[in-house]
Amino acid sequence: MEKTEIANRKISELLTEFPFLTAFFNDNGLEIEGKEELTLPEYFATFDEDEIENRAIDAENLIFQIGEFIEQMIAFLGKDEDIVMTVTILPGTDKSGNAERFDELVIKQGEIICIVGPTGSGKSRLLGDIEWVAQSDTPTLRKILINNDVPDKKWRFSSSDKLVAQLSQNMNFVMDLSVYEFVELHAESRLVENKEIIIKRIIDKANDLAGEKFSPDTPITSLSGGQSRALMIADTAILSKSPIILIDEIENAGIDRKRALRLLISEDKIVLMATHDPILALMGNKRIVIKNGGIHKIIETTDQERTILSTLEDMDKILLAYRTKLRSGEIIEKIEGQG
Ligand SMILES: Nc1ncnc2c1ncn2[C@@H]1O[C@H](COP(=O)(O)OP(=O)(O)OP(=O)(O)O)[C@@H](O)[C@H]1O
Ligand SMILES: [Mg+2]
Repeated sequence: MEKTEIANRKISELLTEFPFLTAFFNDNGLEIEGKEELTLPEYFATFDEDEIENRAIDAENLIFQIGEFIEQMIAFLGKDEDIVMTVTILPGTDKSGNAERFDELVIKQGEIICIVGPTGSGKSRLLGDIEWVAQSDTPTLRKILINNDVPDKKWRFSSSDKLVAQLSQNMNFVMDLSVYEFVELHAESRLVENKEIIIKRIIDKANDLAGEKFSPDTPITSLSGGQSRALMIADTAILSKSPIILIDEIENAGIDRKRALRLLISEDKIVLMATHDPILALMGNKRIVIKNGGIHKIIETTDQERTILSTLEDMDKILLAYRTKLRSGEIIEKIEGQG
């Protein structure tokens, strides 16, 4: 919004559109009760000269600051125009420099896309391209469009970034924080209400997914690989407003991966997940097959594959039951009812 426009609007109108302005008025000791029908210049004109001098009120500067504050808050909170309906991948080149042979791949809101391919083929690279919203400026030379357009660069550089939430393969915590403090930092940066409840919910969910439980006072640096993964998944699922979620292999963390996935996906998100796990791969709507760094094929999950998925899930239950026994130190015997 233009600064001059702010000056022309009634305070009541500004507050309706930008409710967070209340905080600005309070923080600056600006009493607006009963003066809501004034514009900002009219409001500042109500101060007498003594007040202006004693309180060092600089109307012009304050109006400027209000404009800045609105801009920053909008950038921080995201606005409706930030809804991501589609992500488009435009072809680049594979590791040998050959052009990828597809026109464009459009991923829609609500879709889950899996990325499969041998180790080292370029699955994480593709996720990296999307996270960076690549514009022919990564090794693959791919281009990523958001809502069929080259997106605003702000998405690349802001750390309160709302476009992409990434659960990466390698997570090294370097901060000296407890689990509670770590989650609290995130909750605070996202301005959630009832912070305590949210923090508790995240830690509980993470403990649901992980095997061995950890407490809120555990230092994050002493969490195991699976525990930190579980914490990041719960944190992303519950706190993140990002419309795009990128997941790089949740299967190897020893956590309940299907529950993790169910926690992460929701209808208004776009999920891309690199995986070696057939169950996760078939849970997606489509899968991208990567070969030698390039997108080799795009396959829609067939009805037959969905039937096979349920067979695989039954097999998985058996495996999980054995894993649980193994982990708890039992001797493996034939599980009742299984061939
Ligand atoms: N199209 C490409 N052009 C050039 N380099 C590429 C391309 N695709 C991938 N690479 C590079 O190949 C290497 C391996 O890719 P990547 O880490 O994405 O593999 P991966 O499929 O995720 O493997 P893993 O299954 O082991 O996680 C990386 O250094 C990556 O930057
Ligand atoms: Mg990888």
